[in-house]
Amino acid sequence: MLNAGIRRVVMATRDPNPRVNGGGAEFLQAQGLQVEIGLLAEEARRLNEAWFKWVETGLPFVVAKAAASLDGKTATAGGESQWLTGEQARSYGHQLRHELDAILVGVGTVFADDPQLTVRLPKHTTKNEKRKTKNGFKDPVRIVLDSRLRLPLSARLLHLDSPAPTWIACTPAAPKDKIQEIRDLGVEVLMLHSEPGGLVALKPLLAELGSRRIQSLLVEGGAETLGSFFDQRLVDKFYFFYAPKILGGKTAPGMLAGAGVKHLGNALQAKDLEVRKFGPDLLVTGYL
Ligand SMILES: NC(=O)c1ccc[n+]([C@@H]2O[C@H](COP(=O)([O-])OP(=O)(O)OC[C@H]3O[C@@H](n4cnc5c(N)ncnc54)[C@H](OP(=O)(O)O)[C@@H]3O)[C@@H](O)[C@H]2O)c1
Repeated sequence: MLNAGIRRVVMATRDPNPRVNGGGAEFLQAQGLQVEIGLLAEEARRLNEAWFKWVETGLPFVVAKAAASLDGKTATAGGESQWLTGEQARSYGHQLRHELDAILVGVGTVFADDPQLTVRLPKHTTKNEKRKTKNGFKDPVRIVLDSRLRLPLSARLLHLDSPAPTWIACTPAAPKDKIQEIRDLGVEVLMLHSEPGGLVALKPLLAELGSRRIQSLLVEGGAETLGSFFDQRLVDKFYFFYAPKILGGKTAPGMLAGAGVKHLGNALQAKDLEVRKFGPDLLVTGYL
């Protein structure tokens, strides 16, 4: 660099990885270059937000995603939910699955939708050879919260032809024979503590996922699962899609269940909101 006449280097941020942190900057300073760090630091962190969180905390960056009508309902009072949003919004949802390391749903969604949680998009070439699907995308690791292993052995998630594994997270309340039956299908069962109410403890689950190098997690629902993540303040970023439909209905479910907050002063405050359009639908993203 000195030979090329460069005297001053401006860096947005250091790499948080303790193995390299500052090494490059110190080397350049030792060569006599002036090094300034911090210009557009926040923007640079955002470009690599999952990596920063994982390296600094050992936990995955948690992204919540849900789709609702304009009035916040995820299904009609009669229980119909597919499909609220249009083709373009749903494709973007699949793109998110491709970009993030893992995807998580509650067992209620497995009962309701029997989802595959794979990336289904037109053919594409990815640089990431690991977990690459036949059409060139990367499937995320699939995780189901199922404290008592109620999911049926016929669930599609247990029989997928995908390069990524499915992990079922349960508690000691799960029957031993069901654990074995699921393992016999070649699917891993993660044994975790239970939290009050007997549900899978989320913080230990995130720590376990982090230790397995899951750097980013997409929480797709349903409402109970998303409610638990928001109640425990575990969400870093959200993607809320809104279809231009109004459903109403006292019993029609909303995006989040869980306990919620009793006082407005305890509301989670979203920041850095952005709004985008996907065909007729709106996407609101933000950070917590
Ligand atoms: N619009 C959308 O974006 C969207 C996305 C996904 C799903 N959905 C819809 O959501 C509906 C299902 O939602 P849901 O709220 O009934 O069920 P859910 O959130 O999918 O699953 C909830 C179940 O997961 C288990 N669980 C274990 N640990 C948990 C924890 N820490 N927190 C929360 N749950 C935990 C519990 O069953 P155990 O006690 O047996 O463990 C709980 O009853 C379906 O109709 C589906 O179509 C909508």
